[in-house]
Amino acid sequence: MRGHHYKANLLKPPHINAVSLMFLYRYLPVLAIFPIAQALGGQIPVVDGVLGGVSNDASFTKSEAQVLRVAATTPGKLRVVENSGVCETTSGVNQASGYGDITATESIWFWFFESRKNPDTAPLALWFNGGPGSSSMIGLIQEHGPCRITNDSSSVAHNPFSWNNEANVLYIDQPVGVGFSHGDLKVGTSQQAAADVWSFMQIFFKDSRFAKYQKSDLAIWTESYGGHYGPTFAAHFLAQNAAIAAGTVSGLTLNLKVLGVGDGLTDPLLQYPGYIAYAASNPYHPLVSSSVISRANSSWTSSTGCRAQITSCNNGGSNSVCSKAQSFCNNNILSPLAGDFDVYYVPTRNPDPYPPDITDYLNSVASKIGAESTWQFTNRGVYNNFAATGDWMRNSRPDLETVINAGVRTIVFDGDADYILNFNGVEAMVDALNTKFTTTYHQQQFTPYTVAGQATGQFKNAGTFSYVRIYGAGHEVPAYTFGNLAIGQAAAQMFNQIMSNQSLTPT
Ligand SMILES: *[C@@H]1O[C@H](CO)[C@@H](O)[C@H](O)[C@H]1NC(C)=O
Ligand SMILES: *[C@@H]1O[C@H](CO)[C@@H](O)[C@H](O)[C@H]1NC(C)=O
Repeated sequence: MRGHHYKANLLKPPHINAVSLMFLYRYLPVLAIFPIAQALGGQIPVVDGVLGGVSNDASFTKSEAQVLRVAATTPGKLRVVENSGVCETTSGVNQASGYGDITATESIWFWFFESRKNPDTAPLALWFNGGPGSSSMIGLIQEHGPCRITNDSSSVAHNPFSWNNEANVLYIDQPVGVGFSHGDLKVGTSQQAAADVWSFMQIFFKDSRFAKYQKSDLAIWTESYGGHYGPTFAAHFLAQNAAIAAGTVSGLTLNLKVLGVGDGLTDPLLQYPGYIAYAASNPYHPLVSSSVISRANSSWTSSTGCRAQITSCNNGGSNSVCSKAQSFCNNNILSPLAGDFDVYYVPTRNPDPYPPDITDYLNSVASKIGAESTWQFTNRGVYNNFAATGDWMRNSRPDLETVINAGVRTIVFDGDADYILNFNGVEAMVDALNTKFTTTYHQQQFTPYTVAGQATGQFKNAGTFSYVRIYGAGHEVPAYTFGNLAIGQAAAQMFNQIMSNQSLTPT
């Protein structure tokens, strides 16, 4: 396994050796059988050598979609293991893990951690990783959970900057099939994913153990493909609340107050030029030669190029138009411009072994926490279902604007060492936001974001909207450190300020 570095988010191009082959056969997931060259998991997969590519093999999704059947599902209810003793070791802090069975054949995995402080009055944050198809256990164990994986991947250690220091946090593996979730792979768009997450939350709040949190302030935090998930889920929650109030839907209101999106893919038309800009110039080093840059630039600007294809997709384009745009743009722009550097942390050459692999650890604790399937970074069937609809190239900025204008406190953040959702693209998206705070936002200058006196980024606040660029951070912002700060310290300050309904405030 050492011969192949696992990474949080990316399926590395296949340098398969004998050791990793053995590893793969041993751990080939129950849920999924797929070609070996595509079997190493991550948040944004590599398909046929292309980062975020689209498979040409039509039979692939079919063979992938072998699903685990668990006899004892309880549709409409939770199945829970309480206080497994895994991960959160702070005494008196409750945790629970298990499944919400949204149907007899669709089970969504969750892992809940009570706040280390005042759980009865603390807000509740939901966490979603991206992919599409990647597990939220990545965020839990590599980024901001009560425990973090050690650098040799052998165990976990207490995280003093856990996001459950001041909030209740609920990690959710979705769509069905992702991570420890299991069942029929029906979801291929962010909108379909939103509907299932809403159904899961209904089940969660109906359970007597968690009903008390229904009135708590609710937050959605997410990253990466979460640039789609976050705005779509939040807008769906608000729309369902309105329909409940109007009497056209029955259900529990979700008290959504906060949305946080880190290193997110929200508006591809505005974000793809960011790859060209960042590859040419970023705080570390150019990623590729000028000839590679100019080829990618032609692929962007030509009359049948990436820009034209995303535009067609966004102007009511069919799934096939959007899927082709994803394939073209990721083949000709996203992939080649990364050069030899790690797309999630450009200061290092590819592959950066950090954050360390979590697969062995999670599978070793699976039975203790009540998990019923073999864990993998990314479910390729789910990823392929999304690639087939071209959801990747749809624009989630209108939903983000709806959510901001509805008064949901929103933060967009980005690590300046991340290429794959770099700050050039994210800031272009943020600058284009058309909301009631736009004028104020454009009047602001960037201000240093200090944490315990250490400048660790630059930010702007406007009304209940904030943006911050975090220095030294890769794609998984809370997994990094800057200056004299500890790992995750800057992200924890950001999270706690926003969760307590404050604008970003230097300390
Ligand atoms: C683990 O590796 C990261 C990245 O190289 C480093 O910042 C961190 O200090 C390491 N942790 C320990 C405990 O050595
Ligand atoms: C990309 O191409 C356009 C149009 O040909 C040109 O104006 C622009 O300077 C190019 N940008 C880069 C980074 O090469």
